[in-house]
Amino acid sequence: MKASIADSGQPIIETIEMTKRFGPTLALDKVNLRIYRGHILGLIGENGSGKSTISSIIAGMQPPTEGSMLYRGEPHSPHTMIEAGKAGIGMIVQEQGYVSGITISENIFLGEEGRFRKLLAISKGAMNRAAKTALEKIGLNDIDPSMLIDELDLQDRKLIELARVMINDPEVLIVDETTTALSQHGRDITYSIMRRMRDEGKAVIFISHDLEELMEICDTMTVLRDGRLITTLEKNDFDAGVIKTNMVGRDMGDKYYREDYSSQVSSDVLLDVENITTGSGLLMNFSLTLHKGEILGIGGLSHCGMHELGKAVFGEEKLLTGKVTHVPSGDIIDTAKKALKHSMGYVSKDRDKEALVLAASIKDNIVCAGLDKVNTGPFIFPKTEDGYVNAQVKNLSIKCASISQNVQYLSGGNKQKVVFGKWVGRDCEILILDCPTRGVDVGVKAAMYQLIEDMKKAGKAIIMISEELTELIGMSDRLLILKDGQLAGEFNRSRELSEQHIVECMI
Ligand SMILES: Nc1ncnc2c1ncn2[C@@H]1O[C@H](COP(=O)(O)OP(=O)(O)OP(=O)(O)O)[C@@H](O)[C@H]1O
Ligand SMILES: [Mg+2]
Repeated sequence: MKASIADSGQPIIETIEMTKRFGPTLALDKVNLRIYRGHILGLIGENGSGKSTISSIIAGMQPPTEGSMLYRGEPHSPHTMIEAGKAGIGMIVQEQGYVSGITISENIFLGEEGRFRKLLAISKGAMNRAAKTALEKIGLNDIDPSMLIDELDLQDRKLIELARVMINDPEVLIVDETTTALSQHGRDITYSIMRRMRDEGKAVIFISHDLEELMEICDTMTVLRDGRLITTLEKNDFDAGVIKTNMVGRDMGDKYYREDYSSQVSSDVLLDVENITTGSGLLMNFSLTLHKGEILGIGGLSHCGMHELGKAVFGEEKLLTGKVTHVPSGDIIDTAKKALKHSMGYVSKDRDKEALVLAASIKDNIVCAGLDKVNTGPFIFPKTEDGYVNAQVKNLSIKCASISQNVQYLSGGNKQKVVFGKWVGRDCEILILDCPTRGVDVGVKAAMYQLIEDMKKAGKAIIMISEELTELIGMSDRLLILKDGQLAGEFNRSRELSEQHIVECMI
């Protein structure tokens, strides 16, 4: 039986009246957060509620505006992440947390190359061997640490960050919204590390928007809303309804996924994907058809080829065999330019690398995909542009100071909303969504599902690639499961369809 907070003694970390301002934004408002040994603490709250901000202050990435911290009962005010790391606090950040252009082992031992110095040179061999051990320690046995980190996909890059944090044997581990980038295998690795740390009397802060995951893994849960600590619940008191109400400050209702089961799909085929094999080898002789008014779900385990499929359909993968045909025009889609010409849109899973210009404003990011919609005459009027962008900001409740704010300063989930708004606003005929709800809070997820359903009703066709089976079952007219780059199962929408049916053909 887990110890309750009442008999856990002194907190290992405590924030005292912690406040953080970014210009006009009050990101944290006098937060008193306590984390105890032997506990996994879940942090939950809407997008922009302050979860990453408080974690990054604890981990030394930025100072608070006001307030202080105690760590093991002593004042704690780290100036850098390295300083916090040396003191025993490690964090996996929500956004990109690795350095591009260098190897996996160089990333794992970033700032600690001195360990491998022999006379004047760094021994790469010794570093690679140590990196291999660090990877194996968290259960990653088949990654070659001398590879460039950029050769890995998003999920494996996240696991490398985990391996890096774990080499220092932290007392406190913070995992910020990492699991949504991971498939089940990656999640299992992360859970087992968190549980092991708890059992060793260390502490974990776990941030996620997946309420079921939090309720299962965590011992206590703290809810933040608009930068304020609303409540802390112990495991026995976990209740999804209560937690959601505390998050949003009102009763949420239960409509989430679409409710119809009489799937209305036209027989008109919009896209015909025939026998495609990609250069990466991740898809082999794969075929599908996409109909007008259809939500076609695509699922599978990591590396099954589903993310490459999204890119290939949008003309962004080199094909060794087969073709993608836009049926109404007969055109072959082999470049993104042609895809755009036929009113196709693509939301990439890897938003920071592929889907956003981080150094540009919200407005520019949204307008760039919708230019032809805004630009109906010979001139572009700033007012029309602003109206168009404001509509997306309102539809998806994008939390920002203004639409001219740079995207890089938005919270993770709000960035994802910008990516979604960029394509949805464009009113595409065919939309490819790769993990569209990654990192967004429950309220906005519901709004996104509603927008997807509205698009379907308006006769648009949607390919929805996702690692969440419940979302695929809840939204798809038809669901294709991939395994090793090939079709492993096909399911039609039905009330009886369960995760169990699907999992059997995934593995
Ligand atoms: N460097 C920054 N400059 C300006 N504003 C910022 C900065 N960092 C965070 N903010 C703002 O502070 C608020 C809290 O952001 P934070 O990233 O902590 O939210 P979050 O709870 O982690 O959200 P999410 O679930 O979307 O990740 C947001 O309004 C965000 O836009
Ligand atoms: Mg965040």
